[in-house]
Amino acid sequence: MGKVVEVNHPLIQHKLTIIRDEKVGTKDFRALVDELAMLLTYEASRDLPLEDVQVKTPIQETTKKQLAGKKLAVVPILRAGLGMVDGILQLIPAAKVGHIGMYRDEKTLEPVEYFIKLPEDIDQREVLLVDPMLATGGSAKDAISALKKRGAEQIKLITLVSSPQGIAAVKDAHPDIDIYTASIDEGLNDDGYIVPGLGDAGDRLFGTH
Ligand code: URA
Repeated sequence: MGKVVEVNHPLIQHKLTIIRDEKVGTKDFRALVDELAMLLTYEASRDLPLEDVQVKTPIQETTKKQLAGKKLAVVPILRAGLGMVDGILQLIPAAKVGHIGMYRDEKTLEPVEYFIKLPEDIDQREVLLVDPMLATGGSAKDAISALKKRGAEQIKLITLVSSPQGIAAVKDAHPDIDIYTASIDEGLNDDGYIVPGLGDAGDRLFGTH
């Protein structure tokens, strides 16, 4: 059973409050999304396995720890997820990056993958799936299914702002997934935006509003 972690570190709360403000412009918004992604990844990577290695300091040889086991892949859900990638790569520069783009067919309501490009060995990697907003949970659910279909087994979803409905939808469809989020907000409005949320994350990141 996966867990849901609302990471309420003071730095995270502070930075998230700043970007909720509608007056914050694209440049600051982008920088803070990167910083928040980095801080959330710090928490989400807490259980990465370690192994012993020998290291020779200028003083003496010693046994210390380094990351062991599965390598990581960062997979943003297009387009807003792109805003979180650089912050994560600053912490984990060796991670590979995949991309998933999907939309829902308005008639069939079935998910349509319009773009998916993943590292070849995705089945060997732990995946950090990233999207700033977990609203209805539709695209996260579908992206997780797309990853599982290609063999990914260990997937963590990292979001900045989540709705209770989005979390429930993802947990319902994929009970094994861990979710790390900076905030579980009140809910959704009639247009599917998170309340109070921070508006359209993609538009605010890319200056398209
Ligand atoms: N996507 C966004 O960018 N914002 C929301 O509030 C919901 C979905």
